[in-house]
Amino acid sequence: MKINHLGIATKDIDNALRFWEGSLGLENVHTEVVEDQKVRVAMLPIGESRVELLEPTSDDSPISKFLEKRGGGIHHIAVEVEDINAALDRMKAAGAELIDKAPRIGAEGCLVAFVHPRSSGGVLLELVQTVK
Ligand code: CO
Repeated sequence: MKINHLGIATKDIDNALRFWEGSLGLENVHTEVVEDQKVRVAMLPIGESRVELLEPTSDDSPISKFLEKRGGGIHHIAVEVEDINAALDRMKAAGAELIDKAPRIGAEGCLVAFVHPRSSGGVLLELVQTVK
């Protein structure tokens, strides 16, 4: 396993890029709207991982709710697995509370599934299986 990306919620990606690109020096290599999750994402590689900036595309986006409650900041950690269905089965059998019982299509066509922060002591976990 490895950290595929860190999901960071922001009201405004263009403004956030002033810090992550302009100040820190990362490069935004991919921007995409993920309709299913009602977000616009920007991907900035850092080592073998990436920073994923998330901006809501509507008021009922999960990111809108997060921004209202907590302002911007780290929203989730995404762990890359070889076989997302096997990972979900394993976590379910071990008692973890799954938000997605089956994988969905995420950014760049990856398979993704979220695990509830109640299971992990407050961290929203995203499982990712990349398309090979
Ligand atoms: Co993510």
